[in-house]
Amino acid sequence: MTIVIEQQIENGAQAEEQKTLAITHDLVLDGGFATPKEASNDGFVAPDVNAFGHSFRDYDAESQRQKTVEEFYRLNHIHQTYDFVKRMREEYGKLDKIEMSIWECCELLNDVIDDSDPDLDEPQIEHLLQTAEAIRKDYPDEDWLHLTGLIHDLGKVLLHPSFGGLPQWAVVGDTHPLGCAFDESIVHHKYFEGNPDYHNPAYNTKCGIYKEGCGLDNVTITWGHDDYMYLVAKENKTTLSPAGLFIIRYHSFYPLHRCGAYTHLMNEQDKESMKWLKIFNKYDLYSKSKVRVNVEEVKPYYMSLIEKYFPAKLRW
Ligand SMILES: [Fe+2]
Ligand SMILES: [Fe+2]
Repeated sequence: MTIVIEQQIENGAQAEEQKTLAITHDLVLDGGFATPKEASNDGFVAPDVNAFGHSFRDYDAESQRQKTVEEFYRLNHIHQTYDFVKRMREEYGKLDKIEMSIWECCELLNDVIDDSDPDLDEPQIEHLLQTAEAIRKDYPDEDWLHLTGLIHDLGKVLLHPSFGGLPQWAVVGDTHPLGCAFDESIVHHKYFEGNPDYHNPAYNTKCGIYKEGCGLDNVTITWGHDDYMYLVAKENKTTLSPAGLFIIRYHSFYPLHRCGAYTHLMNEQDKESMKWLKIFNKYDLYSKSKVRVNVEEVKPYYMSLIEKYFPAKLRW
């Protein structure tokens, strides 16, 4: 199950992008969290019925959801330590859980997450395809980016019982580096006081255990669906470009791409890839209300991309 929350957008540029995309659609933001359907401060008025024609959540439900989100980040900030991520990368880096194709994973994700959102009546696979199709419309020649749109959230299968049924705080939500100070821009920053790393002098300076410009590849980021899908793609020898892998790996790294935190750890390659991540992020909002994608119709195109960039079966 995903958590449905109020997404707090503080950054002007992103809010602007979202407003543009949100005008006619009910939106879901990446990380497994759906956005609220309420008038925002900047005058945007979201649709007032969901896909079932029912009203979106009432005030009590809304405040309950905020509590749920805060509780999510409390657990996330306390438990995501440098050592925890190291253990998870070792365990899941074995890729000994299952063998399946990319498309089979899309279908498996349907099972785990499909009924998680009370405002949603479409299979999860349609939302993956909506992201991909929106990119395809605007960037017809970048087929790698279409495929990236389709697969970037497949790591959420970590929630599935066959993958150990990891808790939400270890799969979704914003990500951030470990081994250096927690930037103030990270949501619900106060809960880091309960994280042992926060009190470790080796980890609580601006660079911590890293060197300036060392490259994000050398930085340990909180464990979740981003890093897992990156490991799966890389270890199964995808031919996706570095930018595609960068998008998959860092698309939830909001402190970086929303707030510009941790840029001192980036190298030149990261900065190049970042341009694509910013483009991608505009599409990592997808419609739940009206825009339907005919899965069978577009499937052959995506199957051809999967075949181009991935082996027939992958180890997960
Ligand atoms: Fe996403
Ligand atoms: Fe995601």
